[in-house]
Amino acid sequence: MPITTPKDMFARAYAEGFAVGGFNVNNMEIIQGIMQAGTAEQSPLILQVSAGARRYAGQEYIIKLMEAGLAENDLPVCLHLDHGQNFEICKDVIDGGFSSVMIDGSHLPYEENIALTKQVVAYAHDHGVWVEAELGQLAGVEDDVDVEHSVYTDPDQAAEFVGRTGCDSLAIAIGTSHGAYKFAGEAKLDFDRLEKIAALLPGYPIVLHGASSVPQHFVEMANQYGAEIGGAKGVPENLLRKAAASAVCKINIDTDIRLAMTATIRKYLAEHPSHFDPRQYLTVARDAVRDMVAHKIRTVLGSSNKI
Ligand code: G3H
Ligand code: 13P
Ligand code: ZN
Repeated sequence: MPITTPKDMFARAYAEGFAVGGFNVNNMEIIQGIMQAGTAEQSPLILQVSAGARRYAGQEYIIKLMEAGLAENDLPVCLHLDHGQNFEICKDVIDGGFSSVMIDGSHLPYEENIALTKQVVAYAHDHGVWVEAELGQLAGVEDDVDVEHSVYTDPDQAAEFVGRTGCDSLAIAIGTSHGAYKFAGEAKLDFDRLEKIAALLPGYPIVLHGASSVPQHFVEMANQYGAEIGGAKGVPENLLRKAAASAVCKINIDTDIRLAMTATIRKYLAEHPSHFDPRQYLTVARDAVRDMVAHKIRTVLGSSNKI
């Protein structure tokens, strides 16, 4: 199946109360693990590439790996730029064949965010490419952007922002954050705010960043085999399921992939001290990504059998 845009995925996700996973990809094993899970679950997928992933793997490699995955798996898959920082990066990946881009002007003053988003929307729509924008700020580290305190999205401003920019989906801040340390105390999301935004933008797809659940069995496994990841805490799966059943059509997951791979590789190497062939520990890491993503699709996103 050729690369698709999120349009039909999100229309169905909105109508049927599920969300599509926006999974961050950085190398072959991650792409293969996610694609295997998507095929096993017959789920649509969004594979997303950050600026860091482009620096690490190189855009050409990532695109070719994704194309290889698409040739082997008959699934609707969208290739998405995660946290595009400026117009040039967005243009570059649109010209390179991505079907969706995020322009992240959330760190800019409101009017500058609008102007930048409009510029990307004009170019992207000319090329049939979807645009995700962001309003409000998540706490934590977003690639090159480090936000110390979150600023929740204002519902009226969100509606105005969508109207003025013409962006196709909107990432909002309602309490999630990037990384493995999301909540010092009780995990909470501002569902009232989400409902207000959804009421002002009926039928419009909302995106949740920073939505890893930080599975404790991976944290414990990593720590048992030498890691020091104390106090890591994610968004509970029941809150994500509730969000997926609402206007949230895309849920971003990166940290859980990192944890699945790292915990599994640490365990494998500790239990097989004489092994040094990367294919051995990368095989179990890839399987861990596959199983974690399949679980996520089935029980959190609800996107199984929605292709
Ligand atoms: O939003 C951030 C994603 O987890 C990507 O992280 O920029 O380190 O690749 P990265
Ligand atoms: P996590 O750090 O919660 O996995 O969030 C990833 C993300 O939002 C990528 O844009
Ligand atoms: Zn993000």
